[in-house]
Amino acid sequence: MRTNQPQTIYLSEYTVPAYLVDHVDLRFELFEDGARVHSTLTIRRNPQGSELAQPLVLDGDSLTLEAVHLNGDELAPDAYEEHDGQLVVANVPEAFTLGVVTWIEPQNNTRLEGLYKSSGMFCTQCEAEGFRCITYYPDRPDVMARFRTRIEADRSAYPVLLSNGNPVEQGALEDGRHFVTWEDPFPKPCYLFALVAGDLVEKRDSFTTVSGRNIDLRMYVEPRNAEKCDFAMDSLKRAMRWDEEVFGREYDLDIFMIVAVDDFNMGAMENKGLNIFNSSCVLASQDTATDAAFQRIEAIVAHEYFHNWSGNRVTCRDWFQLSLKEGFTVFRDARFSEDMGSPTVKRIEDATLLRTAQFAEDAGPMAHPIRPASYMEISNFYTLTIYEKGAEVVRMIYNLLGPAAFREGSDLYFQRHDGQAVTTDDFVQAMEDASGVDLGQFRLWYEQAGTPVLTVSDDFDEARGIYRLTVEQAIPDTPGQTDKKPQHIPFALGLLGAGGESLPLRLSADDEAPQTERVLDLREPTQSFEFHGLSEKPVPSLLRHFSAPVRVNYPWTREQLLFLMSHDPDGFNRWDAGQRLAVDVIQSLIGQPDSAEIEPRLVDAYRHLLNDTDLDQALVAKMLQLPSEAYLVELSESADVPAIHHARERVLNHLAVALRDDLLACYERNQGGGDYQLTPTAIASRSLRNTALAWLLHIDDERGRELANSQFEQADNMTDRLGALRALVNSGFDEDRTRALDAFYERFSDDPQVVELWFSVQASSSKAGQLPQIHRLLEHPAFDWKNPNKVRSVVAVFAGQNLPAFHNPDGSGYNFLAEQVRRLDDSNPQIAARLVTPLTRWRKFAPTYGQQMKAALEGIRDKQSLSRDVYEVVHKSLA
Ligand code: ARG
Ligand code: ZN
Repeated sequence: MRTNQPQTIYLSEYTVPAYLVDHVDLRFELFEDGARVHSTLTIRRNPQGSELAQPLVLDGDSLTLEAVHLNGDELAPDAYEEHDGQLVVANVPEAFTLGVVTWIEPQNNTRLEGLYKSSGMFCTQCEAEGFRCITYYPDRPDVMARFRTRIEADRSAYPVLLSNGNPVEQGALEDGRHFVTWEDPFPKPCYLFALVAGDLVEKRDSFTTVSGRNIDLRMYVEPRNAEKCDFAMDSLKRAMRWDEEVFGREYDLDIFMIVAVDDFNMGAMENKGLNIFNSSCVLASQDTATDAAFQRIEAIVAHEYFHNWSGNRVTCRDWFQLSLKEGFTVFRDARFSEDMGSPTVKRIEDATLLRTAQFAEDAGPMAHPIRPASYMEISNFYTLTIYEKGAEVVRMIYNLLGPAAFREGSDLYFQRHDGQAVTTDDFVQAMEDASGVDLGQFRLWYEQAGTPVLTVSDDFDEARGIYRLTVEQAIPDTPGQTDKKPQHIPFALGLLGAGGESLPLRLSADDEAPQTERVLDLREPTQSFEFHGLSEKPVPSLLRHFSAPVRVNYPWTREQLLFLMSHDPDGFNRWDAGQRLAVDVIQSLIGQPDSAEIEPRLVDAYRHLLNDTDLDQALVAKMLQLPSEAYLVELSESADVPAIHHARERVLNHLAVALRDDLLACYERNQGGGDYQLTPTAIASRSLRNTALAWLLHIDDERGRELANSQFEQADNMTDRLGALRALVNSGFDEDRTRALDAFYERFSDDPQVVELWFSVQASSSKAGQLPQIHRLLEHPAFDWKNPNKVRSVVAVFAGQNLPAFHNPDGSGYNFLAEQVRRLDDSNPQIAARLVTPLTRWRKFAPTYGQQMKAALEGIRDKQSLSRDVYEVVHKSLA
């Protein structure tokens, strides 16, 4: 454990590595009480480095060093130094081999970084800095080497031995042991190294690439999961085809493997040729996975596969460049998902996540640009900003260049940098070089943190027929950054006439072929645009398709929002108008007595939606979701959660009571039947009937109760079964809730993914997830502190999704969270640091809440020997 204060690492201090590694030869001896790792590195002085002889410095963490060899000769202990996580060899020649033998204890590795054990199997997670927990190595992504890996283990306990690349040798050893040797022909940084050893079943398939090469596809899972692989395998094949067609990227090895692991800190990992997945992000069957889970699996399988080019063939120079691979790859997987399903719905889901959670991050104490300038612990920077905002920035480039030029830019980037470790600027440069589009000002998106705010005003000159739109942009201060420069913001918009028609957008009086949608380039603090030839003041439809990750303020009247909700030709903005209207209505009720009137037109609008069978039902299903409490908190200045919760509940109850018959009709109309399908239409239909059910149970409707109970019993898929369970859990029908929860657990108790759903349905419920109930979940035999998914499904879901319970005015929710963070900090600092997130937002809340949140943070800060991960988050939040 660390005793001194963690260091800050700066991008400005980047220097090239003093030594390069050309080849890595690894031999793992795996045993029950530990593992011995023999590593032989072929090293040479970096010609780009300093002229002066440098000591060789290797990174290491939690290693027991057994021996060091230089060019085959064992070094005496005074020839090297081992301290502060480093192995330093002072005198080394220009080129040499270094042998290092270390002993590690995977069975005691609870941090789940490096080599560890999960349900009896050995597996690895090396990104970002886990490889140093395996052996001493220059653990930085700009050192790229060819790896050869020999794994030795007991044959009966670990029949399957996997690593990156191709198997080149295998055989029997003494004492019932065996070995397999793998060779990866592609040079890679050590964060892409992987090893798996276990008793796993293999599922095989194959894929023929565009150039006719046959690729062996394999999934490895525990025997009990053998029937849950098909969907991921099919997703993989769709992703491989799509990447060829849309990005011209062909797979490069002869084998591609996916392994499912139950204990995993993140979603999945793109190790070269051997992707390792959190079980919950890859295993699925109709009976156990919801529609949302299927879609998530498809997206993550694609994401990790796409990394083979955007991440592995071209990787990051340093961890400040993380968004180079993550932002680009999220953009790629989002476009894939748009092509596989409903593009508008996918866009709505991504914008919702961004506006709810990334905007909050950008407005909080951990705000950072998509290319941060400094960090203490890189694991804390696998954020919504790096991933989702990073993807939005790539999407803006895509829209600025257009599809054809963007593809040329992407081809140039891959061709120019294949086999290299590069920077986000190299990416932007390739886009610029291929297209000729000036991205000079645009680069500020990489440097400046904070969400730009656009304040839009307008006036109409009736005599001249000119509509003038004025847009002001402001970027709020963030920690360490003030007085920001205006950014280049692509601002897509349309104008609607009184009859709902799209008006021609003439930026000058003589515009002959006016478009009805334009993308304006915002570059100045204030800019005005004049639209000519209009006979009436139009209704503006702004930031269509969410064309930039910004906030837009425009004083739409409720009348105008209702109008856009039913007339905007941009589906995204129809949805957005509905959200804005609902937000406005809920906000106006916060703190008001229950006698305050609820906007009557809201009921009409939702009735219209519920009965609108002409509109894309996938869009209708999204439009019926009221803005979440988390989003309402994000929008408020000084949030009073119980008051927000109460106002939102009032609106929900009001709508459900007024629309009861329409909800029942909607439910009937969407009564499934037929085979379970994952088409956008079928998904929308399930979403609609489950929303109707949820609303009916929200008002304890008796007919709704019957429907929920029978749906729960008869459902042939997890979406409907969980939809019914969730509705019952959130109703006032206590007996039905208990009966359904018990039945559900009994049926699925041996399936960890479903048990996680069962935990989270309760932890997220303001009816079933009050603190005493949360404590009971933690004591449940299925709960396991060592399993990150379980911790997330109870603790993180409680703090992040059960807002009224977490923000109990007595502060008990905050103290509870602080206690769990302190408990986890010693065993799994990455997960502990993530759990802190809700508390970091303390300044957002009304003082009585905020002060108690701050006190809880101080309680974490004062723990002895805090991990670097939690230290960084807590200290920055209190600064
Ligand atoms: N590169 C992985 C992905 O996005 C995530 C790895 C995260 N690891 C971590 N230690 N934070 O696909
Ligand atoms: Zn990724």
